[in-house]
Amino acid sequence: MWPAFTLLLVAFWGWAKGSSHHYSDGRSSRLSLEKTFGRSVKDSQCRHMLKHLHNGARITVQMPPNIEGHWVSTSCEVRPGPEFLTRSYCFYPNNTFQAHQFYYEDNHCTKPTYTLVIRGRLRLRQASWIIRGGTEAEYHLHRIQMVCHTAAVAKELSQRLSSNCRGALKDPWDQSVMYELWSEEGGSDCSRELNFAMHELQLLRLEKQYLHHNLDHLVEELFLGDIHTEPSQRLYYKPSSYQTALQNAKNHDHGCIACRIIYRSDEFHPPILPPRADLTVGLYGQWVSQRCEVRPEVLFLTRHFIFHDNNHTWEGHYYHYADPICKHPTFTIYARGRYSRGLHSTQVMGGTDFVFKVNHMRVTPMDLATTSLLNVFNGNECGAQGSWQVGVEQDVTVTNGCVALGIRLPHTEYELFRMEQDAHGRYLLYNGQRPSDGSSPDRPEKRATSYQMPLVQCSSSGQLSDYSQGGDRPLLPHNDCGGWHTGSPTHITVILFISLLLFWQR
Ligand SMILES: *[C@@H]1O[C@H](CO)[C@@H](O)[C@H](O)[C@H]1NC(C)=O
Ligand SMILES: *[C@@H]1O[C@H](CO)[C@@H](O)[C@H](O)[C@H]1NC(C)=O
Repeated sequence: MWPAFTLLLVAFWGWAKGSSHHYSDGRSSRLSLEKTFGRSVKDSQCRHMLKHLHNGARITVQMPPNIEGHWVSTSCEVRPGPEFLTRSYCFYPNNTFQAHQFYYEDNHCTKPTYTLVIRGRLRLRQASWIIRGGTEAEYHLHRIQMVCHTAAVAKELSQRLSSNCRGALKDPWDQSVMYELWSEEGGSDCSRELNFAMHELQLLRLEKQYLHHNLDHLVEELFLGDIHTEPSQRLYYKPSSYQTALQNAKNHDHGCIACRIIYRSDEFHPPILPPRADLTVGLYGQWVSQRCEVRPEVLFLTRHFIFHDNNHTWEGHYYHYADPICKHPTFTIYARGRYSRGLHSTQVMGGTDFVFKVNHMRVTPMDLATTSLLNVFNGNECGAQGSWQVGVEQDVTVTNGCVALGIRLPHTEYELFRMEQDAHGRYLLYNGQRPSDGSSPDRPEKRATSYQMPLVQCSSSGQLSDYSQGGDRPLLPHNDCGGWHTGSPTHITVILFISLLLFWQR
């Protein structure tokens, strides 16, 4: 076993040397993506969109990020629970911050319940070795305050919180009055009951892009760390991927109406977003990622789904990469199966339940590290033993999936979906956030209560899934070295293995 991991180590060192703190995914990465998915003729719109993830926009990542300024949510956000909220965060030149979190009763953020005002200090640390492209930071809280927006909420919350905040909460609260939940000066901690943490500030990424090739239209996006899907684990979780980005209030997408409403709000005038109707989820046609997505535990990927609503079958392509701009492919999965539609979610307002089955799967290792890993595993548990080659696809249905990747077939997942239209009228499809503990939602009670980054519709027809057929596999990547930075070979094995276990993203 060891020689293989020594090989991996060499590959990682090479990669570490080649990494830099300033990069952009303009032309150079597009070239390599073209090589990866190269097809010169008759390219479908969907593949085109995956190749040109940012529609030609030039995205730069600033490291270390200068996050001074005012940042706002671009829409009504859903956190595990579910919690519906919008955020408005200010970072000042003296390294302090003031964060407003506005909470709501409904999934369109039209009925505010309460607002948290959080003050503290933030210090940026080093570039993250775990989440490439991210910056680690430390925060220190000064105080947390709360304002309730209705009498009913004030009554309910003061009852709920009082059990844990001895004495501080003598009388029931009133609406529109600011109360202190916690302060560094001491006293009691009334925030406990809320499972409140600002750990999202421990991981940051700042992206700048010029929209529509227009040098006058800069959009700055600030990605903060993700929130654990199990509310009781929030206090102990260190982020390993991101939430939906905030946009800089000065440099936001002009189509973002929510941005302007949130920017003008404060704790006594919470943002009320324009009411909307819930769209019925229609699973048909083809959908692709809008960006290089980050998954907890060091995985970068893009997704492409095809739904056939005539016979309730689906196909999914998962392109995994080693880097945050999805330039160096590691492996590709093609999966397919059946799905059935359930009822409106009783737990998550605006969501619809689905059940997905996977009964067919093919795997293509795209780099040396993954190929070696697949070859190291013994037994007939992932394709033909020892036969994996870079860029060569194998059907692993006959071996009931792939143990090395942590997938057993047939597999069932309990899903949550919602649909929306963006400011440009395009349909967006959200599916459930994967459990943060790396498990799979294989029981109804593990169904998600929040969502992943949305996919965008690229075709309303389910046809043209022709690259799932043999002979049309991606070309070999150029000499790339994917993997994860770490100190010792054992560590590498473990990290690589765990990461692959967690790959199973839809
Ligand atoms: C930091 O700057 C903000 C905004 O200018 C100000 O409100 C705050 O009092 C300052 N904090 C400290 C500790 O200087
Ligand atoms: C389902 O329908 C699609 C499109 O009509 C077709 O390509 C696919 O083979 C069908 N699958 C099954 C299992 O019948």
